[in-house]
Amino acid sequence: MKILVVGSGGREHALVWKIAQSPKVDKIYCAPGNAGTAQLAENVSIKSDDIQSLLKFAREKKIDLTVVGPEAPLVAGIVNLFEKEGLRVFGPRQEGAQIEGSKVFAKQIMTKYNIPTAQSGIFTRPKEAIDYINEMGAPIVVKADGLAAGKGVIVAKTKQEAIDAVKLIMEKMEFGSAGEKVVIEERLVGEEASIIAFTDGKSIVPLASSQDHKRVFDNDEGPNTGGMGAYSPAPVVTDRLMEQIDVEVLRPFVAGLRQEGIEYKGVLYAGIMVTKQGPKVLEFNARFGDPETQPILMRMKSDIVPIFEAVIDGKLDDREIEWDERAAVCVVLTAGGYPGKYEKGVPIRGIEKIDQLDGVVVFHAGTGCVSSACNAGPDIVTAGGRVLGVTALGDSIKFAIDKAYRAVDLIHFQGMHYRKDIGKKALKYER
Ligand code: AMP
Ligand code: GLY
Repeated sequence: MKILVVGSGGREHALVWKIAQSPKVDKIYCAPGNAGTAQLAENVSIKSDDIQSLLKFAREKKIDLTVVGPEAPLVAGIVNLFEKEGLRVFGPRQEGAQIEGSKVFAKQIMTKYNIPTAQSGIFTRPKEAIDYINEMGAPIVVKADGLAAGKGVIVAKTKQEAIDAVKLIMEKMEFGSAGEKVVIEERLVGEEASIIAFTDGKSIVPLASSQDHKRVFDNDEGPNTGGMGAYSPAPVVTDRLMEQIDVEVLRPFVAGLRQEGIEYKGVLYAGIMVTKQGPKVLEFNARFGDPETQPILMRMKSDIVPIFEAVIDGKLDDREIEWDERAAVCVVLTAGGYPGKYEKGVPIRGIEKIDQLDGVVVFHAGTGCVSSACNAGPDIVTAGGRVLGVTALGDSIKFAIDKAYRAVDLIHFQGMHYRKDIGKKALKYER
């Protein structure tokens, strides 16, 4: 098979890495890819949201299966476009991708089908949003409706902070049309977990649980990022809780979408807050999580390609996925200044030293090559905010953490930043 992976982050490198292990696969392309995917796939310089050029490429190369990483092409309708041309593609159609493309839409479905989530109001006028904030008081959470590159959610400690957020989103239009509507909701308290599942619109097969680290600094301080690290499994998600999430969240959500006339196929990602009252949904995404995918796929023993095909063909049924019993931890190395302004083109040293370490993989995110040869050693430079995801397997979370950080110590680039406490929340369950 010839497979095209769309995207250029750590998630896509992990997908390419996993797909490359499938005996069904002869050739992988990645658009646009990074310096990591270049070593396993042929990078194609088409941006991931240029869906017309992707279609043209897939037709020309007779791609057998396209796997879409990021949300933007899904929301833009890449799946509808490819399907119309008879091309096989993994991901939800545009109608389904709204669960991520519109927080208002996701909230309306959750409310209609009684899926546990924060109490909220939906507003199209700033005045009404501000009145609601004044009525509800703080802390309170303000969310821009549309895609805002992870920056459209403000967890406000004071009423003033929330009102400022409404003005930024709805009046200054900081996120463009993504801010025409807002969701304002109660702040939930608890531990977060990422629940990611395959679904063919009928059956649901959850992947191993995981936990992300959204804030840029240790102890969950500083602004939100795309994710500074992740581990799997997340011990906060006990078997009982997983069952509860399956029954109360995943199943009614997919069934609800079906009732609305939407056959949702692909990956369903539920961001969950485990509160004292039980699990509640923070958000739904229409794709694999990044960086959660890196530790999850390190642990997946089953071939992923037949799963993609089963989802597309509506034959997922009760397919079992085999998991490595070990834990995996991914530490993200970022450019200095991220999630704010940062430099690009900084040489990265030491990645090749990781090859000697057993059970460690460095997934590239924002990396590029200075020459077309793209030699793993001297040629690699930074090209984004999140640069690398150093991912290690260990017999326990603690061993995986230690191994990941030992590997991190071998890598260096100017301005490199990372959290020193990835996985720490899991340790209280291991003691
Ligand atoms: P979202 O993109 O909706 O997942 O929001 C990004 C992050 O903001 C989440 O991972 C949480 O850390 C935080 N967040 C979102 N909604 C809430 C909420 N209702 N209560 C507390 N924190 C929240
Ligand atoms: N790591 C969070 C996300 O992928 O949305």
